[in-house]
Amino acid sequence: MQLFLDTTDTAVLKDLVATGLVDGVTTNPTLIAKSGRPMAEVIAEICDLVEGPVSAEAVAVDAEGMLAEGRKLAGIAPNVVVKVPLTRAGLIATAEFAREGIQTNVTLCFSAAQALLAAKAGATYVSPFIGRLDDQTNGSGIELIQTIRTVYDNYGFDTEILAASIRTAAHVTESALAGADCATLPPAVFESLFKHPLTETGLQQFLSDWAKTGQSIL
Ligand code: E4P
Repeated sequence: MQLFLDTTDTAVLKDLVATGLVDGVTTNPTLIAKSGRPMAEVIAEICDLVEGPVSAEAVAVDAEGMLAEGRKLAGIAPNVVVKVPLTRAGLIATAEFAREGIQTNVTLCFSAAQALLAAKAGATYVSPFIGRLDDQTNGSGIELIQTIRTVYDNYGFDTEILAASIRTAAHVTESALAGADCATLPPAVFESLFKHPLTETGLQQFLSDWAKTGQSIL
């Protein structure tokens, strides 16, 4: 499973990229606004830090506008993936981007029917929003990933399922079990994946027993 970071914080990104475990990055207009920086500058900097796919979102609501913005965003770096919303206009733009060889991430997906349309339009990635769906439906986000997996496998679609709006480490493992190809994580959730209380207490025990031996390995 590929793990992406959902952030525009390049300092945090640099730190986590150093682990060698970050496969890509996603951004959205809210995260760009939070950065307080020009979008093209932030995306270019992220693309320099990460070799994998970097999603940059178009904000036009009509297909022509999305195509113009998407082509400009795709020109920033070869690893830019143009993000468009799961709307009729977004899918018209997705099909054209596919013809032009521009990679897409169809975002704000909340149903398997929407995901089916995204795949038919030739999306590179579809992003089901787990956390936001859980908030509305009392927890059916992971079920949505499972359903999309089945639909895509039934027809051999190669659109990748990118689990988004991830809130917890459990969301990550449940998405992996449900067959998501990738998940995009806020940095705090990414950090939480390293941790387990038994790892910490086990390590303390080993270190204290080792100290009693008075030995040194080197
Ligand atoms: C994904 O591409 C989105 O940017 C992100 O996962 C949205 O997450 P949120 O629901 O926590 O805002």
